[in-house]
Amino acid sequence: MPQAANPVDLGLPNERFPFPAYPNGWARVGLSEELPVGGVEAIRYFGRELVLFRTESGEAQVLDAYCRHLGAHLAHGGKVEGEGIRCPFHAWHWNSAGRCIDIPYAKKIPPKAQIRAWQTCERNGFIFIWYHGEGAPADEVVPELPEHNDPAWSPYFRLRWKIRGRGYDMGENTVDDVHFHYLHGAASLPKSDRGDILGSKSVRSKMKMQSPQGEVDATIENSSVPGMGIVHLSGICDTLIVITSAPIDGEYVDQMFSYKQRSGGDPKAERIGKAFLRDLEKQMNEDIVVFENKRYFVNPLLVEEDGQIGEYRRRSRKRYTGEFPTAKDAAEWDTHAGVHPRSISRPKEPGFSQREFEELASFLRSTFKARRVVREDDDASETVRLELLGREDALKHVIVFERDCLWRNEVSDLRGYLAKPIVKDRIRAGGTSVFEVPSAEIG
Ligand code: FES
Ligand SMILES: [Fe+2]
Repeated sequence: MPQAANPVDLGLPNERFPFPAYPNGWARVGLSEELPVGGVEAIRYFGRELVLFRTESGEAQVLDAYCRHLGAHLAHGGKVEGEGIRCPFHAWHWNSAGRCIDIPYAKKIPPKAQIRAWQTCERNGFIFIWYHGEGAPADEVVPELPEHNDPAWSPYFRLRWKIRGRGYDMGENTVDDVHFHYLHGAASLPKSDRGDILGSKSVRSKMKMQSPQGEVDATIENSSVPGMGIVHLSGICDTLIVITSAPIDGEYVDQMFSYKQRSGGDPKAERIGKAFLRDLEKQMNEDIVVFENKRYFVNPLLVEEDGQIGEYRRRSRKRYTGEFPTAKDAAEWDTHAGVHPRSISRPKEPGFSQREFEELASFLRSTFKARRVVREDDDASETVRLELLGREDALKHVIVFERDCLWRNEVSDLRGYLAKPIVKDRIRAGGTSVFEVPSAEIG
């Protein structure tokens, strides 16, 4: 593969964000109101094509979109049948666990007829899927919102944006007090303290805001709970904003604000509320200009008055499988913006360093009970081969990584990929197998 002079030219998905693309957790991929029983939708998140459908019993389900038979996209012509979906091409029937349960014209179903099924959850009018970099099942629950079915609150009013950036970076905005004044025109610099929303710590900021009635005292309280960011606004009109998002890929995020207001049917309060929402929309549009053009500094130069940003980052980082830059890489990244840290920490030639190989080998030993992992790569070839000998000598696997794939991915990405149940099965199947890892499948 030809080397570009500037690593940014490689089109790395995170050229502005030197950390893994996807946080572990629940991501909102659909809306209950838009998915009737039997409904089928093509969606794209986590860099993958997916199919979302509602089964006859009413469950929302998500599978990887491509039928394992001959690759038809299940959302284009697929029909819900019972608790699964039938492919339009040759009528293979996939259940909600992603297993093929019927091939109407065949005597046997191939044992490998399995599509990746995503763990789903439907709550508060949203449909979420669970993502974990190492394939671990969900270990947290999306809480019920008390306002969701409370008639004192209006139905949701929604705003949605496709934003070039990362959710991690955008979440920071809610604890960034100072920008409310300078970017959004809040009449005073806010003052923050702590509160509690649904059992999660919250940050409460008090500020003066402009309203159709003139300047008023407003409070913004926000918190993040599994699957959702929650913002309560009071002062002008009680407003709840539920922020849900999902990474489309390493570059774009699908961001949605769902608003509810408590007006009690008073038309004046409703009018004020609507004006307030228009102002919030204006604020988001101001933020987006910054989000889409900014660069993430690992060690920003914060002053005391910047408030909770440092704490937000420490907390949010824990949600990722995979590495954030080391202190040394970070210094390079922050001072020489434009140099991707991978170009600093990595050998110039794509491939494993000895340390990376050892890290991957120990993962393979424990995950696949491999007795021996041998590395085989020569400068001329475009691949790196890892030979895996199982406990029994008869079991021998070769995992072939494309060099391009090694260049583009951290070892933790590769580990995450190999740990996925479906990939594990593929590696474990058979006596001797060659398992190829094309770069396109990771990320
Ligand atoms: S491609 Fe789906 S059944 Fe043939
Ligand atoms: Fe903002």
